Amino acid sequence: MTTVSPTPTPTPTASTPTPTAAPVPATVPVAPGPAPQSAMRLREIVFGAAIAAAVRAAARLGVADALGDSPATAAELAAAVGAEPQPLHRLLRALSCYGVFAQTEDGRFLHTDMSRMLREDDPHSLRYISLWCTEPWTWQAWPRLDDAVRSGGSVFQELYGKGFFDYLHQDAHESAHVFNQAMTTSSTQSALDVAELLDLTAVRVVADIGGGQGHVLASLLEKHPDVRGVLLDLPGVAAKADPRLREGGPLAGRTRIVPGDCREAIPVEADMYIIKNILEWDDDSTCRTLRNVIAAARPGARVVVIENLVDDTPSMKFTTAMDLMLLLNVGGAKHTRDSLVSRMSQAGLELREIRPVNAYLHAFECTVPG
Ligand SMILES: C[S@@+](CC[C@H](N)C(=O)[O-])C[C@H]1O[C@@H](n2cnc3c(N)ncnc32)[C@H](O)[C@@H]1O
Repeated sequence: MTTVSPTPTPTPTASTPTPTAAPVPATVPVAPGPAPQSAMRLREIVFGAAIAAAVRAAARLGVADALGDSPATAAELAAAVGAEPQPLHRLLRALSCYGVFAQTEDGRFLHTDMSRMLREDDPHSLRYISLWCTEPWTWQAWPRLDDAVRSGGSVFQELYGKGFFDYLHQDAHESAHVFNQAMTTSSTQSALDVAELLDLTAVRVVADIGGGQGHVLASLLEKHPDVRGVLLDLPGVAAKADPRLREGGPLAGRTRIVPGDCREAIPVEADMYIIKNILEWDDDSTCRTLRNVIAAARPGARVVVIENLVDDTPSMKFTTAMDLMLLLNVGGAKHTRDSLVSRMSQAGLELREIRPVNAYLHAFECTVPG
């Protein structure tokens, strides 16, 4: 049984000329208006929240997990995920317009590359990234973007009475879990690339500062059996470090986990410090973190900063959107190549080399002077 409903006839509106409008005489000059594609594109863009919400809803309902390799009707999927068939049909129809799921001619739904990535078990799953980018706090913060642009700072304190990470770990446990899972996804996918790139010759101890659950560190320790590792992150995150690094895990004997705030102090001696995807907050925090690394490190120690850039990247739509989200939540910014280089040299690091890690990350290799 198909649940496809007939396409409704559009109702003419003030901005939609009716097909019966009188033709314009050829002699009357007509001011060139915007191309119709541009008008429709802008309409689609301003409904971006609807499609982001639709992806979120599909991820939360588990529709992609319920759909197998064969096409299924909305009714079958609705029964599997505990939803109403008709609204689910509408949700999947909207998503299919963007290539997240596809519809067969008889109205059943099937997977596309993108919808498969909403599955939890997909090797390239973006389920938690999709949830993270659409968490409830984002829907409170986006309408305040004009305020953030006026003031140049985060709106989080005004909205929630505290800083973003305090809010996350103290008041929004589900969001904190989603954040950790999203970070796990991105770092698992990039950890192997980082391990492949970095030469650890002569490195005995490597430290990952703000290293999340430690996927980059675990990949490095797995690749280099003689190297020891230190993971430093906020206490709530460090407590949930990758099981490979924790007591009982295969790398625990070579790992020290340090709960702490890298803006306050970095009590870690290492030959190489990795700082990946954390220098995106306000300048003061960035400066303090880099200075704390320099204070902790011996002269000649290597510091590798790894970041997405808002220039020189093929993923501009994604990184510039992340850049705006960082403005809202932590008053931060994604860097350009130059802005990152200038923060590092202001802190006193000596830049040696900039290399791409993969299609969306760059590594800035520095040394501690002295
Ligand atoms: C975007 S994640 C990056 C995680 C990891 N470096 C990676 O690339 O997978 C940012 C990390 O910085 C950590 N963080 C935020 N503020 C911190 C602070 N003040 N001290 C230490 N870590 C912090 C967060 O808990 C989170 O794990």
